[in-house]
Amino acid sequence: MMKVTLPKLKSKKGTEKISMVTCYDASFARLVEKAGIDSMLVGDSLGMVIKGDENTLNVSIEEVAHHVRAARKGAQDPFLIADMPFGSYQSSVEQGIESAVKLIKAGAEAVKVEGGSEVCPLISKLVSFGIPVVAHVGLTPQYVHEFGGFAKRGKSEKECKFILDSALTVEKAGADMIVLEGIPETLAADITGKVKIPTIGIGAGNDTDGQVLVIYDLLGMNADFNPSFLKKYLDLDSLVTNALKEYKKDVVDGK
Ligand code: KIV
Repeated sequence: MMKVTLPKLKSKKGTEKISMVTCYDASFARLVEKAGIDSMLVGDSLGMVIKGDENTLNVSIEEVAHHVRAARKGAQDPFLIADMPFGSYQSSVEQGIESAVKLIKAGAEAVKVEGGSEVCPLISKLVSFGIPVVAHVGLTPQYVHEFGGFAKRGKSEKECKFILDSALTVEKAGADMIVLEGIPETLAADITGKVKIPTIGIGAGNDTDGQVLVIYDLLGMNADFNPSFLKKYLDLDSLVTNALKEYKKDVVDGK
């Protein structure tokens, strides 16, 4: 595989769909690269799938940087995006710049921030310093307490307008791509048609410029996690459990 750069990713809009998965370590990064996936996201979802938290709020910038270093060691070719975790950019633009610089120094090629107009001053500043930014609108997990959970967004016309306006605003501020999470397919299609930058969907239908999934989810790591948008490509839950059972038996049997 060849190195995937931001210009290459952006040039895919309208011609070829962009594949993205989350990735948190070198072992999976190696396989992500072998599979020819365009981009890996060191998401703050690591709080849930790695640390076992109920939401993404308790992830620190140091933790994301730690996983960025690991993923980067495992693969050079996929374009590596790092999440700016909750509390690493909300205080001020300066705090956001410092946090983004840590992630870029750790090996990220872009940072992702959640929100609309409230993150635009930060987006503009970051891109002015050559730090690419992926925006994230719709079901933004860092707003879980405001939303009251992880249910889909865009259920009313007013909410749809807010999400569309947010997408247009972050594009205007200089965002290089936008993640559209947990919104109606029609809204995602509308946004994708209206912005010039690539949209990457998760739970947003098929009409975005690309798709992202949490790697453990698509590999079926947890049999009890079955959101309607998730297609599982493997049943790692039972494969791993059965392998571990066999291993245990061999140990117990002295083999
Ligand atoms: O944290 C994450 O993994 C994400 C993706 C699900 C988009 O933000």
